Amino acid sequence: MTKTTGTAITGSGVWHPPTLLGNAELCDAFNIWVRRENAARAAEIAAGTFTELRESTPEFIEKASGITQRYVVDKSGIVDPDRMVPNIPDRKDDELSYQAEFAVNAAKRALAEAGRDGKDVDMVVLGAANLQRLYPSIAIEVLDALGGAGYGVDIALGCSSATMAITMCSEAVQLGKATCALAVTPELTSGFINWRDRDSHFIFGDAAVAVVVEPLERAHPGSYEILSTRSMGKFSSNIRNNGGYLNRCDPTRQFADDKLFYQQGRRVFKDVVPLAAKFIGEHLAAEGIPAAQIARFWLHQANESMNGLIAQRLLGRAPTELEAPLILNELANTASAGSAIAFSKYHDDLPAGSYGLMASFGAGYSLGSLLVRRT
Ligand code: COA
Repeated sequence: MTKTTGTAITGSGVWHPPTLLGNAELCDAFNIWVRRENAARAAEIAAGTFTELRESTPEFIEKASGITQRYVVDKSGIVDPDRMVPNIPDRKDDELSYQAEFAVNAAKRALAEAGRDGKDVDMVVLGAANLQRLYPSIAIEVLDALGGAGYGVDIALGCSSATMAITMCSEAVQLGKATCALAVTPELTSGFINWRDRDSHFIFGDAAVAVVVEPLERAHPGSYEILSTRSMGKFSSNIRNNGGYLNRCDPTRQFADDKLFYQQGRRVFKDVVPLAAKFIGEHLAAEGIPAAQIARFWLHQANESMNGLIAQRLLGRAPTELEAPLILNELANTASAGSAIAFSKYHDDLPAGSYGLMASFGAGYSLGSLLVRRT
C-alpha cells in the first residue's frame, strides 16, 4: 500500500495585482536610465574607473528565461528612469498590510474551492521569500482578517517557502494541531528587485497563492491526497538578499545593492538542474513510484529551459506542455509561489487516482517536494 500523510489539499487559489508590466516597457525605461548614467559618468568610463552599462533587451529576456510579462503592485515608479523603484506608500498600522492583503485575496479563492469559510481556518503558515516586516506575524494578521481562530507563523525559506508552508500545514494536521490549515504565499517581489540590475531586473512578478490542507477523511472528492513530502537544504550564496534589520547599523553600506535580490544566475542554473532532478528522483524512488507514472510535475517557475531539463532528466524525454506546465511566461518568477501557482492553475483536469508532484528549488539552496494523488 502506498504511504500517505492522511492529509489532503482541498482547495487552492491564486491572486495577482492587475497591473501588467511587459518586457518592452520594462527595457525602455531601463535603457533610458543606462544611457543617462553612461553620459553622466563618461569621464569615469574613459578613465577606466567605471564599466559602461549595457542595455537590456526583451529578446534576451524571453529567450533566456521564457518570461514575457509580469504583474506588479505599481509600475509608475518602476518605469520612471528617475526612480526605478515601485511606488508603494506605507500603510498605517491599523490598515491591512500589503502582504496580508495579497494572502487574503488568494486565501478567499482557496477556501471557496475547499468549500470552507474563513472562520474554519485554525492555522495559517505564511511562507514567502521576503517578509515585509518582522512582527507582528503577518500570518496572525491574515488569520484575523479571515475571521479564523488558532495560530499563525511566518516562515522564510527563499524559493521553497511555499512548499515548506504546505508541508508544515500537512504536519500540523497529521499531529492533530489543526483541522483546516492554510498555507499562504504572498510574494510581493517587486519590492526586493534591483530594477537597475540588468541581470535580474526582468526576473520576478508579484502574485499570491493559498492552499487549504485538511485531514483526508474531511476532503471532498477531487482533492489531492498528500502521500509524502521531502525537504532539503544545501547552503549556497549564489542567490542572496542581505536586506534585514542590521542594514542601518553600517551606514557606509546601508543602501548597497546586496540589500536587494542578486544572484549568479548561470551558476544557479548549472547547480540546480542536477540537484533538483536528483532530489525529485530520490523522492519518487523512495516511494516506489516511477517518474513515468507522474501525470503532472508542478515545478518551481524560474526558467523555462531549466524546467524542461529537469523534467527531461526525470522522464528520459522532453515533457509535454501539460506534464510540466509553465506559468512563468505570463506571471514571471513569482519566487516561492511558482510551483503552487502551477498546481492551482493546472490540477482540475486530472482523473481520480492520478499522481502529481509539486517541487521547488532555489535560494538557500532550498528544495521541497510533495507527492500527491487525486482522490
Ligand atoms: N539583456 C540583454 N542581454 C543580457 C541581459 C539583458 N537583460 N542580461 C544578460 N545579458 C547578456 C550577458 O551580458 C551575456 O552576454 P555576454 O556573454 O556577451 O556578456 C549573455 O546575455 C548571457 O548572460 P547570462 O547571465 O549567462 O544569461 P543566462 O543565459 O544564464 O540567463 C538567467 C540568465 C538569469 C535567465 C538564467 O541564468 C537563469 O534563469 N538562471 C537560473 C536562476 C534561478 O533559478 N534563480 C532562482 C531565483 S528564484
